Formats: sequence, C-alpha cells, structure tokens
Amino acid sequence: MNTQRKTMIVGNWKEHLNVSQSSLLIHRLHERIKTHRSVEVVLAPTMLALQPLSVQIDRRKFRLAAQNAYHIDEGAFTGEVSFSMLQDLVHYGIIGHSDRRNKFNENLDEVCSKVAAAVRNNIMPILCVGESQTEKLAGETNRVIHDQVVTALANVTAKEVQSMVIAYEPVWALSSGTDFMHHATPKPDEILSAINIIRHNVKELYGVSAASSIRVLYGGSVNASSAYDLLNIKGLDGLLVGGASLNYHEFSGIVDAAFRKQQEEA
Ligand code: 13P
Repeated sequence: MNTQRKTMIVGNWKEHLNVSQSSLLIHRLHERIKTHRSVEVVLAPTMLALQPLSVQIDRRKFRLAAQNAYHIDEGAFTGEVSFSMLQDLVHYGIIGHSDRRNKFNENLDEVCSKVAAAVRNNIMPILCVGESQTEKLAGETNRVIHDQVVTALANVTAKEVQSMVIAYEPVWALSSGTDFMHHATPKPDEILSAINIIRHNVKELYGVSAASSIRVLYGGSVNASSAYDLLNIKGLDGLLVGGASLNYHEFSGIVDAAFRKQQEEA
C-alpha cells in the first residue's frame, strides 16, 4: 500500500441544486465536517455554482470539481465551457462519467481528449470507468475497464498519470438519485478485482510508479452505512458519491467513516 495516497471522498451532485441550494448545502457540510488533513473532501456542484462556491468554501476543508467541461480551450462552440475557463475554480474534473457516456453519447475518443485537456489546464481528472449490466452478464467487465482506461490515458505522460484519480463505477450499481439506500452494490471481491485491473492496466502502460500513485475510488450507491466497509477494501483510496452526497447527514457520515478509518491506520 502506498501511504502517500490521500483518502478522497467526492460528492457528485449531478443535475441537482441551484446556486443558492448549493451554497446552503456547503454551509451545512461546513458545520458538520471537521478539517481532516488525511481526508480530501471534493464537491462537484452544478457548473453555475462553481464560481460563488470557490469564494465561499473553506479551502482547508473542501475542494471543488467540475462535473464536465469541453476539451477545446476556446472557440466557436456555443454553449460550451472549457477546462481552461475552469482553471482557477476547480482542482478536479470528473471525466467519462457513465451519465455522459450513455446519455450524451460521449465516446472513448472524447473522453481521451477531455483527459488531455484537463491535464493541460492543471485540472486533475477523476476518470470514471465501469461496465453496464449487460457487459457484466456477458463477462466483459475486465475488457470494458481495460478499454476505458487505456484509451482515456492515451495522450498523457506517465508523470501526469501519477496524480490522476480513477473511479470504478459499475453502471448497474448506480442509484437513480434519491433512492441511494436500496440499490445493488458489487461484492467487495468484485470491487477488489476492478481495482486490481485498473492498476494492472496503468502499470502495463506507464509502469509501477504510476500504478501505485494513482488513486482508485469506488462509486455506486454509497451511503453512510456502507462507507466504512467499502473503505476496508484493499487498494481502495476513496469513494465517489452521488445521491447520498445531497444529504448532509449522509455525506458527513461518509467523511467521518473515512476519517475513522484513517485514524485506525495511523
Ligand atoms: P450514486 O451514489 O447515486 O449511486 O451515484 C454514483 C455516481 O454516479 C457518482 O458519480
């Protein structure tokens, strides 16, 4: 285990909460979450809220992530926001989320261009990978993860890969938003296997050092009750949380679980 890898809890708010609701949720989280130097807490609100929240947040507690951005820095692309425009606002960018791959037809090439664009603009990618239900049933999990990892990282260097985050989010385990308590989650063995495949693929491409430096997260129906056990999975560096991140009791409970785990290991 590489002790340099800081535990990371990411809240992906998806298309929920307007600017004032986002600000209120951050306020509530600020009251409940202590400053944990060993746990990095990252929030991905709506794009609209990034600017005001970048001023509001206590930077010792929270970092911001964009949920998406366009891969070309500037040009005649009506309606788009580029990674270069987000440079001063966010540390991270979620790239290749299954919502975007499946609902907005983002293909492997686009994900690859976005990873390169984020890195070029000093935004750290949180690359999401994971198989659908059909792919799982067809025994294609390993191939899907391999293809998604290998193509996404094609245009970045080994050094750039080192500080990246890859989230394993099996599409079949994602909640529909608010019903995060009652959904299928993979067995710990399945998550462990995916983590190992991700690191193995990174190692094949960029060597041992990159493979042991990247942080690997799990996402899919995570809540305050499941967080601690999930974080016990070997090689797992954190959690990417959807529905439960909209609820401050749940999300601060998840951060607490991560902190407890860190304290036990210290
Ligand atoms: P849920 O936690 O709601 O399943 O969503 C996970 C996710 O998609 C985070 O990016």
